[in-house]
Amino acid sequence: MQDRYGHRISYLRVSITDRCNERCTYCMPQELQEWLPREGILTFEETLRLIRIAADLGVSKVRVTGGEPLTRRDVINFIRQIPDISGIDSLGLSTNGTLLAREIGSGTTMAAALRAAGVQSLNISLDTLDRDVYSQMTGRDFLEQVLRGIDVAIGAGFSQIKLNTVLMRGRNEDQLIPLVEFAGARDLILRFIEMMPVSTTHVLDEANFMPILEAKRTIESFYGSLMPETDFRTNGPATYYQIPGREQHIGFIGAMTNLHFCESCNKLRLTCDGKLRPCLGSYLEFDIMKPLRAGATDKELRQFFLHVVELKPAQHDFRDNYQPNRKMIAIGG
Ligand SMILES: C[S@@+](CC[C@H](N)C(=O)[O-])C[C@H]1O[C@@H](n2cnc3c(N)ncnc32)[C@H](O)[C@@H]1O
Ligand code: SF4
Repeated sequence: MQDRYGHRISYLRVSITDRCNERCTYCMPQELQEWLPREGILTFEETLRLIRIAADLGVSKVRVTGGEPLTRRDVINFIRQIPDISGIDSLGLSTNGTLLAREIGSGTTMAAALRAAGVQSLNISLDTLDRDVYSQMTGRDFLEQVLRGIDVAIGAGFSQIKLNTVLMRGRNEDQLIPLVEFAGARDLILRFIEMMPVSTTHVLDEANFMPILEAKRTIESFYGSLMPETDFRTNGPATYYQIPGREQHIGFIGAMTNLHFCESCNKLRLTCDGKLRPCLGSYLEFDIMKPLRAGATDKELRQFFLHVVELKPAQHDFRDNYQPNRKMIAIGG
């Protein structure tokens, strides 16, 4: 699948729930959240059918996300079926890490079960190593269990584990070096992410925004100039650098300040309530649940995907929409 601007779509990010056991201030509104009713969420069977359709059209990489995907019941049985889909050769999962160390029966941890189910890469959110700051940023006192989850995940043998840190001025700016050290000691890829206006809370404000360039400068003032790694890529839009004298990779995801951010976009998103979104930072979304539940054939659903890709914008509108206090639809990531 290719859109009008030459973006080749090979990556489907699949959200399987809008629920979460944390309350990150930059992700969720603080006011009481109404969860979607169960019938408003795609069943795993429906989701697998849509992944198959996407794979028919050339998607080869899938990342499961949420909300917190590991809070959904029977998630392992669902995930296990994805690598069997013809054409899918890369399977990742994004998680806040809180449930990775959980025992899920017969001495198996969630992390080990995910690995056994065919997940190759894990993205784990970790904004700080300070317990109080963690509680402030995520609304929960779960740092200890996340750190345990990371260790258990390392032991489970994933081919790649990335730590994702959302930059927030006044919260975690003093955590950059400790996080680099933490990731380096465990041989994990660390990525710093600029906050994007995808939610409705007061924190998505210029005053809390910290550009990746500033994070890079802070790191360079400690380690010396970072060396660009133009050949090192993961599946996403991060640009990577190496710390002098180390093998360690540090990534920067600058949706707000990197003007070339969208050029290499290869992504399509499927939300848990059955909407196909051609871009995280655009209001465009298309309800594929409706035709799916009305009995559409595979051919009709393939046409639906192609139509959505056709409408993929050249780039996101975050920069235009970045108005403090303006209401934004919450999408997740
Ligand atoms: C929405 S979460 C879903 C998966 C899982 N619950 C997690 O926290 O990793 C996916 C990623 O989006 C990031 N994220 C959430 N809100 C964001 C925002 N406003 N700006 C930038 N990244 C955000 C999170 O930090 C996380 O790395
Ligand atoms: S970023 Fe992840 S962990 Fe935090 S509230 Fe959003 S979905 Fe939950």
